[in-house]
Amino acid sequence: MSEDQLRRNVRTFQAEFQRGWPDGPVVVMPSIKANYGLALRRILTEEGAGCDTFGPGELHAALSTGVPPDVISFNGSSKTEELLVRAVNAGARITLDSTREVELVIAAAERASRAARVRLRVRPDFDFAARSDFYSGPVSLRTASQMYKPGIATESLAGAARRLLDAKGVELTGVMMHAGRHTTNLRVWSRMMQRYVEVIGRLREASGGWEPREIDIGGGFAVPRDPFGRSDGRRLAAPNAPSIAQYARAITRALRKELKRIGMSTALRLEVEPGRSIYGNAGIHLASVTNIKHQTAPVDYTWIETDTSDSFLPDVNLERNRWTVCIADRAADPATVVADVVGISCNFDVIVPAANLPEVRVGDILAFIDTGAYQDANATNFNALPRPATVLVTGDQSEIVKRAETIEDVFTRDVIPERLAATGPKVPVSFSK
Ligand SMILES: Cc1ncc(COP(=O)(O)O)c(C=O)c1O
Repeated sequence: MSEDQLRRNVRTFQAEFQRGWPDGPVVVMPSIKANYGLALRRILTEEGAGCDTFGPGELHAALSTGVPPDVISFNGSSKTEELLVRAVNAGARITLDSTREVELVIAAAERASRAARVRLRVRPDFDFAARSDFYSGPVSLRTASQMYKPGIATESLAGAARRLLDAKGVELTGVMMHAGRHTTNLRVWSRMMQRYVEVIGRLREASGGWEPREIDIGGGFAVPRDPFGRSDGRRLAAPNAPSIAQYARAITRALRKELKRIGMSTALRLEVEPGRSIYGNAGIHLASVTNIKHQTAPVDYTWIETDTSDSFLPDVNLERNRWTVCIADRAADPATVVADVVGISCNFDVIVPAANLPEVRVGDILAFIDTGAYQDANATNFNALPRPATVLVTGDQSEIVKRAETIEDVFTRDVIPERLAATGPKVPVSFSK
């Protein structure tokens, strides 16, 4: 992971969104789910960034790396009362996901030592013609976003707001939405903001005039050299995604215009929760070429075998990503070979299908670019493979910030009950590290 790129990304988000939002503060709250490495989070905390968290583990990561609670959003779809008490006591803001959570947070606030600051997660209806990139087939943005579970049903919003406004020890501060990485089309993003503000306007009417002090637009901004959804060939030639500056301009313009149209002030706190676009292009995954296998018949095919796996770069399957791959010390050499770059697992394990590379040799190091978001976070131990280390790089300095797993780590949670260990052949228990 590149420390400098991480810092550049968060600074660019802050500067560009603030440029488009002159009347109120902008808080960038990188989504820690994209990469919950603690050293990386310390860098973002040093930069003054807030944090979008989901569940107890991410809340712990944010608090233990010094994120000020005032800029933590505690998200998630199945919070317990205990967890809510912990979050309220810590001073984190709670983003409510259902009417059930409205009641839970009121109960938690009674038990907590301070007021609960809460926001409503809403579900705007994107009822215009636009397609979601989430699926390889044609699925509309409206259908895709409505199938996504988070948020309070629109018909229940006003009741939830009134209940919270009447409750003791609870302060309703804002609204939040997150749609995800459905599109890179900025006109569609503008229309999404328009529908978001419509929800806010209707909520104001139905709640007797309540207005949010903070509006959180979530994440979903693509990585600039966008790998998303390109592995099926359909979008191989897709252009680069918009820059952070272009996203910021489109989104802040649309928000300001729509808020003014409904007569609401823009002197409020704007929050963004970028995940992939903060961590993605700060990361490179390295692997060694272990073998080059070729057959001519019945089908002419070449595989470049490596010591990594799609288990460690899982978005090739989860999000149909097409990774940019190069030979680390010959990145600029012209491509002369077309071959599948494959991993070590027993699956198909195609990490980059039909990759264009220079002549590859056993022992070459391959670099998979833009892999800093979601890959380590989603990596699995399939085939009992230990997961790789993370190295933080700045200038000519490199430090291990997450050690590689050992085989013992992979089995560390396993227990063979005494009654099974005691029967049959003896169990050898130690592994060499
Ligand atoms: C609530 C919330 N905010 C932000 C994000 C970050 O999204 P992305 O990585 O697409 O920017 C997510 C991702 O799922 C999310 O659930």
